[in-house]
Amino acid sequence: MKKIRIAIDGPAGAGKSSVSRMVAGLLGYQYVDTGAIYRSLAYAMNDTVKLEDHAEIRQLLDNFDVSFRMKDDVNHIFLNGEDITPFIRTEKVSMLASSVSALPFVREALLEMQKRYARAGGVVMEGRDIGTVIIPDAELKIFLTASPEKRAARRMLELKAKGVEITMENLVEEIKRRDDQDLKRAIAPLKIAVDGVLVDNSDIDLFETAELIVKYAREREKLN
Ligand code: DC
Repeated sequence: MKKIRIAIDGPAGAGKSSVSRMVAGLLGYQYVDTGAIYRSLAYAMNDTVKLEDHAEIRQLLDNFDVSFRMKDDVNHIFLNGEDITPFIRTEKVSMLASSVSALPFVREALLEMQKRYARAGGVVMEGRDIGTVIIPDAELKIFLTASPEKRAARRMLELKAKGVEITMENLVEEIKRRDDQDLKRAIAPLKIAVDGVLVDNSDIDLFETAELIVKYAREREKLN
């Protein structure tokens, strides 16, 4: 059976990361979190480089090596050799990642790197434009979503576990703002691929979501 490429796109808080990791684990595939790449760039900007400083952002991109390593079931993110995993999930980095990802030259600079990850097959890649831009010919494209309230509740649990303090009200606000920004940008906005499969997991848990996607994947593996 051929190892296929699975694209999982969707808004913040739909459980993309957990589900993608589970799907990759169940299928024995590689997991690639593309949001972490934009988050790494936002982290590298580190309060000193502003969104308007395009020359400086370009400089950061010239020396930008992001890699992933699974350690104790945690996907560790390395930026130029430094493990930055604990620093890239804050709300500040989330918002800046969303803003910097809307700059066309940033997306252009990160395009090849992301396409390379998918080339070998046997990959679960998650983000916002994987099925539409990065691997438009992926054998399986999932658009994973849930109601904003459900997504905020999931993010709340995730952040609490990490010791991040935030109110539910602020979280719903942040999710809506980020959705708005990711959906409305001119380049590679978040949208379902024409041949994408819509999965709404408002009423099923993350493991059930992963099992459903694995079922689709098994069918596609047989066809390819
Ligand atoms: O998936 P995430 O929440 O870690 O992503 C952080 C931000 O990065 C998200 O708000 C938009 C941007 N992003 C993107 O533009 N394209 C992707 N493929 C992945 C993330």
